[in-house]
Amino acid sequence: MHPLVAHHIETLQPYTPGKPIEETEREYGITNVIKLASNENPLGPSPLAIEAIEQAARKVHLYPDGSSYLLIRRLAAFLGVEPSEVFVGNGSNEIIELLIRTFTTPEDDAIIGAGSFLMYKVALQSHGRRIVEVPRRRDYRYDLEAIAAAIKPQTRIIFIANPDNPTGTAVSRAELEAFFERVPKETIIALDEAYFEYVDWPEYPNGLDYFRRIPNLVVIRTYSKIYGLAGIRLGYGVMQARLASYLHRTRMPFNLSSLAQAAGTAALDDVEHVRTTRETTRHGLKYLTAELSKLGIEVPRSHANFVFADLGRPAAPVYEQLLRKGIITRPIPNYGYPNALRITVGLRAHNERLVRELAEILR
Ligand SMILES: Cc1ncc(COP(=O)(O)O)c(C=O)c1O
Repeated sequence: MHPLVAHHIETLQPYTPGKPIEETEREYGITNVIKLASNENPLGPSPLAIEAIEQAARKVHLYPDGSSYLLIRRLAAFLGVEPSEVFVGNGSNEIIELLIRTFTTPEDDAIIGAGSFLMYKVALQSHGRRIVEVPRRRDYRYDLEAIAAAIKPQTRIIFIANPDNPTGTAVSRAELEAFFERVPKETIIALDEAYFEYVDWPEYPNGLDYFRRIPNLVVIRTYSKIYGLAGIRLGYGVMQARLASYLHRTRMPFNLSSLAQAAGTAALDDVEHVRTTRETTRHGLKYLTAELSKLGIEVPRSHANFVFADLGRPAAPVYEQLLRKGIITRPIPNYGYPNALRITVGLRAHNERLVRELAEILR
């Protein structure tokens, strides 16, 4: 008998998102639950985006603009690139998936950093692509030299998250530039900068400085983090127009809702919301890093809006106890870190509550 699905689908482990607040309150019979699990913006969405969504809601009987014309023009002006170099997607997740669908075949290999953002693996396996996982350095950072050394003639795509999820670590300009030199032009480099706006590090490379020179580079960003629009599903890629034109062939005709297009256009004007979010996150990140370290937890330097907390012992029971106290964090055994929790920086009161409860649990 022919199997219903191919082996790579049968064995595919689906992505497990962070536990929702409502589900936790229902399950544990508690209220006042806080979620520090999905790297969302604790300040909420951009108010300008909310207004734009409300306006756009009156027209949802119409199909959206399939070309996302206004959003793409606004983004291009904002980023200082050409509209033909911007591709928008239903979350950056869609772009990750489309890159695989468009630029790779079942005969090709893909390289990912071991223990990095799980969606790369899920999307690759759902297409039956061969995955080569390259171990990271001891300091949790991507090992770009080892990744370059792992490139084979059949390597068609390489995913690099910078900053990385779930470790929050980043690679420097010098490291990335040396890496670019070693990647053949027919191998797509997907440089995922989902946390770009949070980074405060002089050595951090801005992917947009390179894509004109590197024809195989795709820079991916999202509205889900600093813009607080995870629920609207909106991300974008910047790349040479030729690459973008191939993604336009394989995408669905209405991949962005009219609400997402309106929100994305308006959010770029909300400089104040971005500034407050960045400040709140930087304070919180400093606080969490210092306080967790005092508890004996190893926290690599994070450049994003979350910390990777290596508890040095199985994290699952600690996660469970935190849930009972109304705090949702993210256990990451499926990333290969059974001893770690990923904790999103929240509002000051959230961070303090987390530290207080965690100290009690670990005592
Ligand atoms: C590295 C990285 N890339 C992409 C995403 C997904 O973003 P989106 O909501 O735009 O699909 C995330 C979200 O957690 C992420 O951490």
